[in-house]
Amino acid sequence: MSDTPQIEASIYDRLSRVIDPELGRSVTDLGMITAIDVTPRHGDGDTAASDATGAEGTAARPAFDVTVHVELTVPGCPLSETITERINEAIASYPDADLTPRIEVGAMSHDKLDTLVADLKAERRQNPFTRPGVRTRIFAIASGKGGVGKSSVTANLAATFAALGYDTAAIDADIYGFSLPRLFGVHTQPTNLNGMLMPVTAWGVKLISIGMFAGADRAILWRGPRLQRSLEQFLSDVWWGEPDVLLLDLAPGTGDMAISVAQTLPNAELVVVTTPQPSASDVAVRSGLVALQVPMKVRGVVENMSYYEHRGERLRIFGEGGGRRVSEQLTAALGYDVPLMATLPLVPEVREVGESGRPAVLAPDGRLADSPVSAEFAALAKRLMAA
Ligand SMILES: Nc1ncnc2c1ncn2[C@@H]1O[C@H](COP(=O)(O)OP(=O)(O)OP(=O)(O)O)[C@@H](O)[C@H]1O
Ligand SMILES: [Mg+2]
Repeated sequence: MSDTPQIEASIYDRLSRVIDPELGRSVTDLGMITAIDVTPRHGDGDTAASDATGAEGTAARPAFDVTVHVELTVPGCPLSETITERINEAIASYPDADLTPRIEVGAMSHDKLDTLVADLKAERRQNPFTRPGVRTRIFAIASGKGGVGKSSVTANLAATFAALGYDTAAIDADIYGFSLPRLFGVHTQPTNLNGMLMPVTAWGVKLISIGMFAGADRAILWRGPRLQRSLEQFLSDVWWGEPDVLLLDLAPGTGDMAISVAQTLPNAELVVVTTPQPSASDVAVRSGLVALQVPMKVRGVVENMSYYEHRGERLRIFGEGGGRRVSEQLTAALGYDVPLMATLPLVPEVREVGESGRPAVLAPDGRLADSPVSAEFAALAKRLMAA
C-alpha cells in the first residue's frame, strides 16, 4: 500500500509544515530540505512492527528507514536542534507505516544562502511595517523626562503581550541609553545571516537593541550617526516576520525621536509615560504635543510609580494627578480623547526582578505572575489592543 515514492512525497508535504523558528517559514520553502531517502526495512523491521502490534494479531505494518538531508542557514546555530526535533516529529507521526528518521545536517552553500537572503529581503521590501495591509500594532513608549520608567513599562508590557499569546517584538530605540538587553537578561548577539539580523528572543519577545552588539560590530552596524538612520536600520536589516505587536522604547526627550518614529512608522501610536509629579507631567505633555507637528496618534497615557501600597494604604510618594493632567492637556490640545490608560504602582520587584533579567510581570516559568502589577499590565495590554 505505502510505496517509497508515495512516502517521500508525503514526508515532503509534512515537512512543509515544519517552521524554521527564526525565519518563520517552512523548511521546504527555505530550500533547507535537499533530499529524502526512504528505504524499506527488511527482517528486523518486520519483527519490530509485529512486536508492536502483535497483541491484536494484526498484520505487520510496513517499516522504512527515512534519511532527510537538511541544510541549515547557519551551521551549528543554537536552533538547529529545534529544527531537527520538529523534523523528527513530523516523520515519526506518519500514520501508515513505521518510519525511522535519520537526519543528515549540513550547511547551505554561500551562493544558496545569498540567494535566499536576497529573496527574503526583496519580498520584505525595506521596512516591513509600512506595507499595505500589515496588521502589526505599533506602540512607541515616550516620556519627555528621563527615569520615569519607560524602559520598565516597555519591557513588562512586551512580556505581558507575549504571555497573553501575542506574537510580540520590541525595539530598543534608545540607542545611547539602551536597557532592554539587561531587562530581558539577554547576553547573546543576534545571528547575522549575510547582513540580515535575527532578533534575539527572550521571555517570548523578539528583541533588538544596539546593546546586543559588541565594540567593533556596533561601529560597523551604525553607519550613520543620525537617530532616524538607526531606527530605519533596525526595521529593514532585522528579520521581524509579522508580529501582532511591536513596542519601541524611545529615548527621553520631546522631539527628534518621536518625529523619526512618525516618519518611519506612520502607523505607530504614541504612549506617554509620566510619574505623578508636575516636573514629569509638564515635559510628558510636550512629548505628546509632537503629534501636532507630525501625523501620529497619541494613544494614551500611563502613570507610573503612582502609589506604594503599604498595609492596605496607597501612599502617594510622588504626589498625585500627573497622569490625569497629561491626559486632559493632550486631549484638549489634540482634539481627541487621550485617555489615562493605567496607573501603575511602585513595586520594588519591578526594579529588583527587572535587574535580574526577567520582566517582573512574569513568574520564573515565563507565565504571567499572579500579582497586582501583572494584572495592571494585562489590563493595559488589552486596552491598547481594544481600539
Ligand atoms: N513601577 C515601578 N516600581 C518600582 N521601580 C520602578 C518602577 N518603574 C521603574 N522603576 C525603576 O526606576 C528606574 C528608572 O526606570 P527606567 O529605566 O525604566 O526608566 P526610563 O524612563 O526608561 O529611564 P531613561 O530615561 O533613563 O531611559 C529603574 O531603576 C527602574 O527599575
Ligand atoms: Mg529607558
